[in-house]
Amino acid sequence: MNESLLEQLRRSAGQWVSGETLRQSAGISRMAISKQIRRLVGLGYEIESSPRRGYRLQREPEALDAESMRPRLAGTRFAGGMWEWKQRTESTNDDARALALAGAPEGSVVVADAQERGRGRRGRVWVGGGAGDSLLFSVLLRPPIEPRMGGLLPLLASVALERALAGLGLRGVGIKWPNDVLAGGRKLCGILCEMSLDMDRIESAVLGIGLNVNAGEGDFPEEIRAVACSMRSLGGRTWSRAAVLEAVLRELDGLLTQAWTEGFSGVLDAWRSASVTLGKVVCVTMPDGSRVEGVAEDVAEDGALVLRTGQGGIRRLHSGEILLGPRPAA
Ligand code: BTN
Repeated sequence: MNESLLEQLRRSAGQWVSGETLRQSAGISRMAISKQIRRLVGLGYEIESSPRRGYRLQREPEALDAESMRPRLAGTRFAGGMWEWKQRTESTNDDARALALAGAPEGSVVVADAQERGRGRRGRVWVGGGAGDSLLFSVLLRPPIEPRMGGLLPLLASVALERALAGLGLRGVGIKWPNDVLAGGRKLCGILCEMSLDMDRIESAVLGIGLNVNAGEGDFPEEIRAVACSMRSLGGRTWSRAAVLEAVLRELDGLLTQAWTEGFSGVLDAWRSASVTLGKVVCVTMPDGSRVEGVAEDVAEDGALVLRTGQGGIRRLHSGEILLGPRPAA
């Protein structure tokens, strides 16, 4: 891509570089230069431009590479795995899956500034704010648990998120079953867990996390503006993505160690305390489109939602989309 253009701007260390110089050294047209500059700006590079003087690189986005992150994560499983930081990729979950297939160990991480095909649960597209505004990353796990317990992994991840955000001073963050991290009813973070099963064991699991960090209200696409929020909109300031990533991975590491050694009961207790779902009347849309209404009583030992329905019956739901409150009028 625009390596030589970026390199040239870097070499000039804060000095102006004319469009003509860039054009000649990169061997591309003026139009291609402005297109590449716009792309870099979209990735978080601050580049000043002037019709007379050309371009000047002011600031690069905060690095989330192995060199910067490993020392921060010393003592955790994330300091020892593979680490990839990409400016742009299709989906970090696909990248982490490729690492899994290549035999990478638990604790390997792929983080990207932008995704072209970020995906969410139920085949939905995941869109955050502008490139470089969010944390988009996937971690590779080798869970020593039975496949039927796999539904606990995204719950565990949501607890890690809630704890990390509370530790950073953000109040009012809660978890909606199974793993949406919300504030004021708006989505702050999405978690997608994809597993690869091998007979009766989980060969690998990829936990993909999309956390809205520095997006302003207007940075979200129109269609999700009313339902999305960011750490910045909540806390009224911007955040270091490296510090937030460190906090999340540290919490994740502690909870994984706890779950792998003692089982999930402590994680489930933490999930219960952070849940905004339990005790509420909810309407759950099932994967086949049918709806079930009831009171969310508890979360079972395998992560299923325990729902008391109107007829006094109990149902255990393993998947579904929750709406807080009774069934909306048709
Ligand atoms: C959801 O709420 O539907 C889950 C969204 C998960 C999005 C993250 S962003 C990083 C990782 N890569 C993906 O393609 N998806 C997850």
